[in-house]
Amino acid sequence: MKIRDNVKKIPPYVPGKSKEEIARKYGLKLSEVIKLASNENPLGAPKKAVAQIMKFASQVSAYPDAEASELRAEISRYVGIKKECIIAGNGSDEILELAVKLFLNEGEEAVIPVPTFSLYEKLVRLYSGKPVFVPLDENFQFGCEKIIKKIKKKTRLVFICSPNNPTGSVISERDLRRILGNNVVVVLDEAYVEFADVSHVKLVNEFENLIVLRTFSKAFGLAGARVGYGAADGKIIEYIFRIKLPFNVNLLSQKAAIGALRDKEHLRRSIRTVKRGREFLTKELSKIDGVVVYPSKANFLLINLEGTGKKARRVAEDLYKKGIITRECSSFKLNEYYLRVSVGTALENRKFLTKFRDLVKRSGTS
Ligand SMILES: Cc1ncc(COP(=O)(O)O)c(C=O)c1O
Repeated sequence: MKIRDNVKKIPPYVPGKSKEEIARKYGLKLSEVIKLASNENPLGAPKKAVAQIMKFASQVSAYPDAEASELRAEISRYVGIKKECIIAGNGSDEILELAVKLFLNEGEEAVIPVPTFSLYEKLVRLYSGKPVFVPLDENFQFGCEKIIKKIKKKTRLVFICSPNNPTGSVISERDLRRILGNNVVVVLDEAYVEFADVSHVKLVNEFENLIVLRTFSKAFGLAGARVGYGAADGKIIEYIFRIKLPFNVNLLSQKAAIGALRDKEHLRRSIRTVKRGREFLTKELSKIDGVVVYPSKANFLLINLEGTGKKARRVAEDLYKKGIITRECSSFKLNEYYLRVSVGTALENRKFLTKFRDLVKRSGTS
């Protein structure tokens, strides 16, 4: 069997632990376990999205609309970008892959500020490109000078995740414009943008070399439905339509996403819950001796445990035992002291904080 060499080099994907797995392993009731590891919506799915799934369930014998026309029209109203400049995908993951497929030839380079979402590197490698990593500045802020310096003749793509996973930091419009001024395509991943105060999506009306990715998995509470979208110049969208698989967003997911966009109250409540929870956790975590928490504009917080001497893997394991799932961040090209926690409901946040405080204070856990 001749597997392509660059596929062989890709490490297997290690998914986060599920609630079921943790409950089974530690003899806990499923209802006792809380998951703060995948940045999902703490309020769950919007009622209007669920109603749409029920309403259209019996229509699944038919193929879905290959162009997701109705959904794209709703997205267009939501983001204020023309429908011709929008494409829907099976999660924003799919649009990411399509962008790489569209622009990256073998041996060409993609600039990736790190630490960030691991899929960018994986896709670049899969399509035989070369990832060029640029460390974020001190305290994980974006520094556009360093990024621009890495743009060379062979660079085709620059990935910018804003708010960035796992740091929560955002890029300013000024820095983004400066990067866009170079002759490369910028993929701006705004998966968490609803939790921030500013989006740069409108810049697709001005720059032909910008693709903005958005998702229904976070603020819209539909991670399991797998719906995301890209906004870009009409020419790029036309090419993506040519290369995507015909029926990439299934019928029920298209309907669910339309329902989610119409459930304005759920979106408002989700954003409010996250912003309040984020403020509470940031304030309380920073009071703990040796703990550094970075300012975040997303629905998660990155915590540095180095000052406590406790390694994140150990703390994450001890939290599992107490029914709390968080994410240790060594796969993000960070050292062993970083833990990421999603913002949950007020009750979940308090439960996490109490157990976490107890664990990092107690000696002998490292
Ligand atoms: C930065 C970032 N982009 C994209 C995604 C994937 O989103 P989707 O569920 O739309 O594929 C994630 C998921 O965690 C993410 O963190």
